[in-house]
Amino acid sequence: MAAGKGTRMKSALPKVLHKVNGKPVIDYVISASSPFKPEFITLILGHGREMVEKELPSFLPADSPKISFVTQAEQRGTGDAVASAADIFKGKKGDLLILSGDTPLLTAEILREFYKDYKNSGNELSVFTMELDDPTGYGRIVTDNDGHITAIVEHRDADSETLKIKEVNAGIYIGDVQKIFSFLDKLGTDNDQGEYYLPDLVKVFIEENLPVGRFIWPHSSDLMGINTRKELAMADKYLRMRKLDALMDSGVTIYDPDTTYIEEQVMIEPDVTIFPGAVITGKTEIGSGTVIQHYCKIHNVKIGNNTVINSFSHLEDSIIGDECAIGPYARLRPGNKLANKVKIGNFVEAKKTEIGNGSKASHLTYLGDAIIGEGVNIGAGTITCNYDGWLKHKTVIEDGVFVGSNTEIVAPAVIGKGAVIGAGTTVTDDVPQDALAVSRVDQKNIDGWAAKKRKKMNEQVKK
Ligand code: UD1
Ligand code: CA
Repeated sequence: MAAGKGTRMKSALPKVLHKVNGKPVIDYVISASSPFKPEFITLILGHGREMVEKELPSFLPADSPKISFVTQAEQRGTGDAVASAADIFKGKKGDLLILSGDTPLLTAEILREFYKDYKNSGNELSVFTMELDDPTGYGRIVTDNDGHITAIVEHRDADSETLKIKEVNAGIYIGDVQKIFSFLDKLGTDNDQGEYYLPDLVKVFIEENLPVGRFIWPHSSDLMGINTRKELAMADKYLRMRKLDALMDSGVTIYDPDTTYIEEQVMIEPDVTIFPGAVITGKTEIGSGTVIQHYCKIHNVKIGNNTVINSFSHLEDSIIGDECAIGPYARLRPGNKLANKVKIGNFVEAKKTEIGNGSKASHLTYLGDAIIGEGVNIGAGTITCNYDGWLKHKTVIEDGVFVGSNTEIVAPAVIGKGAVIGAGTTVTDDVPQDALAVSRVDQKNIDGWAAKKRKKMNEQVKK
């Protein structure tokens, strides 16, 4: 169920598309149910359906079960939401697991326990519950003297005695698919919101003399629902810690989990070391032996083995090979491809640039739309002038070239293999292989000029 307006989020974005630790809320729920290899998954959408359908595929794992979409035209409650999928389930047999789209902390392990309990119990319907110190907002589990569940009462419909109940409905249900659908039209709207409440199925099943049970999960924080921005932040923190724990368990050193942000989809091999303040997001992959120094921001970057990313580097949408040294204060904008043993030093910016094995740009440089060969040295202050105000142009620097400091290369230009560019040159033409290119005015020395000037100025100041 993911059709709700998410009113309490106060957002133009559907609630289930809000991201926690880098992935949409709904995606966690789908990932949790996927290991069951369900015949299919149906997403009940309403508010913002197009947006959900568009966003979702880029986050789903490749082996995700088939997903069908159903529209709940008007959000008339969770009971009505499930009813809107009736056509899809016509004639189907087996168990139907109903999940709320807004519980991203859910895992396959938790659902497995729930399913096992349901199968062993012989119940026809089972509700997943938990105990909360602060049950505000949740539906309360009402029981009879024998402790059997008899009803679920929503917070806003509950009297003061019911409000004291700490066991709540987590919004997860399992039952026989045909029985659930055949009883949905027995739900009423006699409640504070005038909505069809799915939890009222408990009463209906009991009236039909069908056994209903519940499964109490001891770790209540696992089932929190996202209804507000504050809950979004809480879930984000929880999932972030879960990701960091999993990485540490797998052999990644993370010195300060409190200040380290690693999103869900990031893949990191064992023996990577991460210092405080790293923010590693998107589809980043980091190979074994690599070190991420303090305060780096890394988004969608594939980094090889034994590379060092020095402090305060900002890297995105690029590929970096093995044994490279990047930063401190490096900036890789999208589209770079660095081979092995490449050095990108401080205050170097690169965009859409390929750099071959062992090449270096150690300081204060801009490389844009360039193809740089192997063993190239790019001096401090080199600038590829790739943009003429209308179009972008390519710079090619072949193997073994030495680019002196403070060089501008006005693209398009090709610097041939083994060429040397003298410091301070503005390259406007191609440079042939093994040539020296210099464009500077010859140096002139005027003997004694400075001493004379000094004397004159000192006399003037005294007056
Ligand atoms: C619901 C339960 C409550 C439970 C809580 C657990 C009901 C009436 N109440 O309350 O007992 O403690 O979840 O988190 O079910 N949705 C639709 N269509 C609708 C209404 C909702 O698809 O017409 C979807 C929402 O997108 C959401 C889920 O159903 O994913 C739950 O809806 P929400 O409004 O968050 O219900 P709660 O008030 O949290
Ligand atoms: Ca909810």
